Amino acid sequence: MALSGVISKFKSYPYLRKASSNTAPEHSGENKGRDKRWEKGGEVVGDDRAERKPNFTRDAGSCSDTVIKSGKGSYVETEDGRKLLDFTCGIAVTNLGHCHPKVSEAAAKQCMTLVHGQCSVAFHNPYLQLIDQLLPLMPHPSLDTFFFWNSGAEAVEASIKLARTATGRQNVIVMQGGYHGRTFGTMGLTRSKTIYSERVGPLMPGVFVTPFPFWHQMGLPQSTPEEELVRQCLFQLDMVLKQQTTAADTAAILIEPVIGEGGYIPAPASFLQGLRKICDQHGILLIHDEVQCGFGRTGKMFYSEYSGVRPDIMVMAKGLANGFPLSAIVSQKAIMDKMAPGTMGGTYAGNAVSCAAAVAVTKAFEEEKILQNVQARSKQLFAALEDFRKEPEIASVLIDVRGKGLMVGAEFGSPAVQAQGSDNNAGAAAKLPSKFASRVSAKCMERGMLLLTTSVFEVVRFMPPLNISEADMRKGIEIFKDAVREVVREG
Ligand SMILES: Cc1ncc(COP(=O)(O)O)c(C=O)c1O
Repeated sequence: MALSGVISKFKSYPYLRKASSNTAPEHSGENKGRDKRWEKGGEVVGDDRAERKPNFTRDAGSCSDTVIKSGKGSYVETEDGRKLLDFTCGIAVTNLGHCHPKVSEAAAKQCMTLVHGQCSVAFHNPYLQLIDQLLPLMPHPSLDTFFFWNSGAEAVEASIKLARTATGRQNVIVMQGGYHGRTFGTMGLTRSKTIYSERVGPLMPGVFVTPFPFWHQMGLPQSTPEEELVRQCLFQLDMVLKQQTTAADTAAILIEPVIGEGGYIPAPASFLQGLRKICDQHGILLIHDEVQCGFGRTGKMFYSEYSGVRPDIMVMAKGLANGFPLSAIVSQKAIMDKMAPGTMGGTYAGNAVSCAAAVAVTKAFEEEKILQNVQARSKQLFAALEDFRKEPEIASVLIDVRGKGLMVGAEFGSPAVQAQGSDNNAGAAAKLPSKFASRVSAKCMERGMLLLTTSVFEVVRFMPPLNISEADMRKGIEIFKDAVREVVREG
């Protein structure tokens, strides 16, 4: 069923509550298209899926009540027979496409060999093989000691635990706009939207926030030079260390090298280098959360490689096992070994089937020249979007195309741009129809493509499979362009 059809069916539910300022319960920020369903006269009214499956919690939020029946390569098929081009990859997870034959085969084989070999009890082979496969892929040879978990949030929490133990300090500095998960620890570290921790505080103490170099979030004109954004952010970080948390109390600076939920903004190399310098000066550990931007998404195995900056701890997940639950932290042995035996662990941590899948993923990257394809398809996508911006009725609406590799964001002008004094497309932004990005996302779905929004701004994010063909990329771009044109026409 088309999303618009789903939307038109919505009705009130018995568990009405007052809508907060951020009304849509965002699932990783994706698809604010459902806002129409969640909000009615200022009330939150529920989720379409509650109608379909009342025993499914609405807390998850969702784009639609569509049931995905199967997935193959760049496409998923729905229960009602629709074939959708997937430019979401389940939020940057199925990076090698759905059910990659070699990955699924490795997992299936492992299923018949050993499913669970608890890591505190004994090693298992896929765990050891995976370490061997990952070692040469690390952005710096000092990153040589691993621990595997299930989810990104678990691994982020582990990185904080490690940083606190290794430094004997408590506080953590995070970026404004950063997202690190929704567990209790990571809610306290997340600063992309208030919805993730609304009404559940108090959160983990000892977290301080510093600006990330993103013009819109900083309330600066879009034309502000990158050096100026970086200069201001590093200055503010210095202020945080002087006014809020002294270095002697600060264990770590935690950053997504490409901010994901905050709007798909790659950190300038000079910013990451500046953070490294400050960390070195003060004995603070630098943690790169590459959960979303890692594993080939940006055209290198890890985004950290572009700047040459060595993190002390790196966090990975998502694309690591192409859909099987697996995450990891990696650090230097000297840092990792400061943890007492038994302090890291979890029943399912480093599951054998997930590790076997991840081993197959690392092999596929090389055998199938995945990174080369990312570079080529990235060029194709950027060129097409830049061309699209030249269309007269689009130029005033599509104000920014940014990202790296196949982690690409497109921002539409919003009233906030105008209010914050942007010198970009002055006058046009105020005319932008409301909920533009989520309407584009909904139109894409009607036309046969999954595309998500992100951030508190009007942004859609492109996360196609890293092995997408040129033809499918072209098709996706055309769907997107038609969707934008239609939203512009409708006003
Ligand atoms: C950068 C980043 N860190 C951490 C997480 C949390 O990962 P998970 O949802 O697997 O807990 C995410 C998830 O989107 C993420 O994008």
